[in-house]
Formats: sequence, structure tokens, C-alpha cells
Amino acid sequence: MMLLAFDDELPLARGLAAALGWPLAVVERHRFPDGETRLRLPPELPARVVLLRGLQDPNAKLTELLLTAAGARELGASQLTLVSPYLAYMRQDIEFTPGEVVSQRHLGHLLAAAFDAVVTVDPHLHRVATLDEVLPGRCGLALSAAPLLGAHVARWLPGALLLAPDEEAGQWVRAAAQAHGLDCAVCHKQRNGDHDVEVALPDAAVAGRAVVLLDDVASTGRTLAAAARGALAQGAASVDVAVTHALFVGDALAQVHAAGVREVWSSDCVPHASNAVSVVPMLAAALRKLQEGAR
Ligand code: R5P
Repeated sequence: MMLLAFDDELPLARGLAAALGWPLAVVERHRFPDGETRLRLPPELPARVVLLRGLQDPNAKLTELLLTAAGARELGASQLTLVSPYLAYMRQDIEFTPGEVVSQRHLGHLLAAAFDAVVTVDPHLHRVATLDEVLPGRCGLALSAAPLLGAHVARWLPGALLLAPDEEAGQWVRAAAQAHGLDCAVCHKQRNGDHDVEVALPDAAVAGRAVVLLDDVASTGRTLAAAARGALAQGAASVDVAVTHALFVGDALAQVHAAGVREVWSSDCVPHASNAVSVVPMLAAALRKLQEGAR
């Protein structure tokens, strides 16, 4: 077994390699002046290789990822697994307007051609039930950080109300609430544009409650900001945030705090200052099981 990783994800890679007791090798990259990249892998790879690559900032990473997978096959990796703690392009799962490319489907096909298995955390599967469906003929394993985030919330704010900012996040708040005996409720969201989001709060009483907004991903932060403003307007005692994927692009974090959010807690799927919960033990356990099954 070998874990392969890129130099910009070393803390997660080192943690995972240590948890698994596997050797770790780093993909060497040289960027040429014209923008191409030379990639170098260990010249002899074992039959079983796991490649770690989170797909935040996906366009910059996908070419390297697919080239690395093809190179790893040539160098001896006959069983190649991708661990992508954040799997991008999962939200574009239908043709929202005529002619729009259904990126989820096509990225799924590309990954299925390159890898035997894909492991990820809280992929945004909305109109698709399982990750297997996204990866035709391959094994897709979707883990969830929601119970881990729920445990963190239960430890710091026992009695908190977990609030999903939209219907799609209902699955995560229910999982987290159930695992730790917390209350939960779900908002209704309408997105009018990238930075323009309206969130209607549920009938559940938030007045006087310590509210924790829980979602899979924070990108522009507008969803969380709108939900936080709504909860505070209805008398919530406090609003904190727990997310699996802390993308927080541009001024997102500032917007979230400006809306009245106190703490932001995230998993370490995406490296960020808000990381408070580690998915490493969960990923390691899943990989061990996957490798045992492949024997
Ligand atoms: C989509 O429904 C997701 O669950 C998130 O709510 C959404 O992607 C967050 O995006 P933003 O932070 O840009 O509002």
C-alpha cells in the first residue's frame, strides 16, 4: 500500500498515512512558464495506491489529478483509489437551463475511467441517491462529517438547535441531531444569484435558543449569512456555524461574522483556520475496510 499526495495537502496526508501506517509519497510538481506542469511519481509504485486530492479550486487541480492517475497506472498501480475529502462539481446535477452541461455526470465518468474507487465526505448529492450512481461501474464511498460536527456542537453547546439553511442540508442536520440527541429544523432557501440568497426560517421556535447552522459547504457564505440574520431576527440567543467544507471564498467569512455569527467550526476536509473536527480517523477506517474488501 502507498498513500500519494500533493505538497499543498501535507498535514492531512501525514495524518492519514500515520493513522493507516502506510508509507506516504509526494507527487513532485514543476510548473513550466507556459502553465503546463511536469509531474513526477515514485518510479515504482505498489499495486495498491491511494491518491489524496481534495478538489477545492477544482479547475486548477483536475488536469493534474487525471494525469497523475494515468501515470500511476503506468508505474504499477493496478488498484487505484481516490480520496477526495471535497468532491467538486457535485451540485451541477441537472440541466438547470437548456444547453447547460451536467458537470456532476461528466466528472463522474472521468473519475470512473481513472480510478477503481472514490472516497469522499458529504458530496452534494441532491437528485442522485448514491455516489455509485455518479461513478458508473466503480465503487463510490460517501462518508459524512455531520455526526462528527454534531458531536462537536453537543460538547460545546449542549441543547443547541441544529438548523439547516436549506432543504438539501436537512439530511445532514437530521444525521447530526439524531446521533447526539439535539433538536433540529430546516429552513427554505431561494437562490437568486451567486451572492443573492433568501432564507425563510421554519416555524420551529428559535427564540432564546442557541442556534447552530449546519451545512455541507460554505462558499460565498451568503446562505449562512442570510440564515443567521433570520435566526437572530427571530430572537435566537446566539448563532454559530458548523460546516463540512470550509471553502469560504473571497469575503465569505467576513460576511458570515457581519451577519452575527459567533463561532465557525469546520471539518479538516478543506484546510481552513476554522478546522475544529478531523475526518482523518473516519477516512482511515473506511480505507482499511475498502482494502480488506479488495483482498
Ligand atoms: C447548496 O445548497 C449548499 O448546501 C450550500 O448551502 C451552498 O453551496 C452554500 O453556498 P454559499 O456559501 O455560496 O451561499
